[in-house]
Amino acid sequence: MATITVRDLARSYGAVRAVDGITFSVAEGEVFALLGPNGAGKTTTVEILEGYRGRDTGTVEVLGFDPATGGSAYRERIGVVLQSAGFEEEFTVRELVRLQAGLYPRRHDPDELIDLVGLADKRNTRVKGLSGGQRRRLDLALGLAGAPDLLFLDEPTTGFDPAARHHAWDLVASLRDLGTTILLTTHYLEEAQRLADRVGVLRSGRLVAVGTPEELRAASDLPTKISFRLPGKAAATDLPKLSTVPRPAGDRLVLASREPVWDTWRLTGWAASHDVPLADLTVAPPSLEDVYLTLTGERDDDR
Ligand SMILES: Nc1ncnc2c1ncn2[C@@H]1O[C@H](COP(=O)(O)OP(=O)(O)OP(=O)(O)O)[C@@H](O)[C@H]1O
Ligand SMILES: [Mg+2]
Repeated sequence: MATITVRDLARSYGAVRAVDGITFSVAEGEVFALLGPNGAGKTTTVEILEGYRGRDTGTVEVLGFDPATGGSAYRERIGVVLQSAGFEEEFTVRELVRLQAGLYPRRHDPDELIDLVGLADKRNTRVKGLSGGQRRRLDLALGLAGAPDLLFLDEPTTGFDPAARHHAWDLVASLRDLGTTILLTTHYLEEAQRLADRVGVLRSGRLVAVGTPEELRAASDLPTKISFRLPGKAAATDLPKLSTVPRPAGDRLVLASREPVWDTWRLTGWAASHDVPLADLTVAPPSLEDVYLTLTGERDDDR
């Protein structure tokens, strides 16, 4: 069953078509990631679904409600982590989480939530005394306060240090295991790869691709990357004939291969017979990042 159904959704700001006719759905229990460059329309889309922003045309159904008219019955069932939230700076972490939880009939224990997002030692700190990443953790706690069926996360881990990001990923994974449906936006492709069952790629207000990361990769038709370092005594001109010419990238050579088996065989055969160590040899399929950059028209072929 679909938790979110969006059909032909559009929203303009003056002459800017921020969302330009998009159609997609998110199944119950699914984690769906919206990707796209700055200004692609992610936040506009998410805020329309949250009921915080109006739409011009199209139909939207979320948890059986139209978010534009769902009112408090709708808002009690969703959790929201905005891209940028304004806080009451004088409140402590604990006060804010308690206040937020108090708005919901069904709620999580505020102190457990604070522990869960890793703010235990900041429980009694005023918001104005938190770092950027700590504020983002507080955002997450506030979004979870009402034990939502559906959680919206707009760039939830921006500003997190690497350990905090991994911690947040674990948290999202455990929410998914509990059956929470999640719509998130992110600029971190690794985050999308880890968390999302499916991703949608927005470009200038249009959805240019929707699918699992694997489906997007398979549809991309990008070459396999074969990369290695040559020792000082060998030159690129010494290499055997390969399906295409390797390009230098830093201290490495990179081959964008359409025939990876044949190229790898030629290359390693040559290296073994000439006793040339191919340091750090890797043979890698296109990454989600490669696919994303191609879909958004931002790919630099020399990468
Ligand atoms: N309140 C607003 N008034 C006017 N234009 C707006 C407003 N909000 C967004 N826009 C414009 O709509 C387009 C989409 O913005 P949106 O915030 O949805 O992008 P985004 O994909 O979330 O970007 P980012 O990755 O930077 O968060 C942009 O061109 C933006 O300038
Ligand atoms: Mg945004």
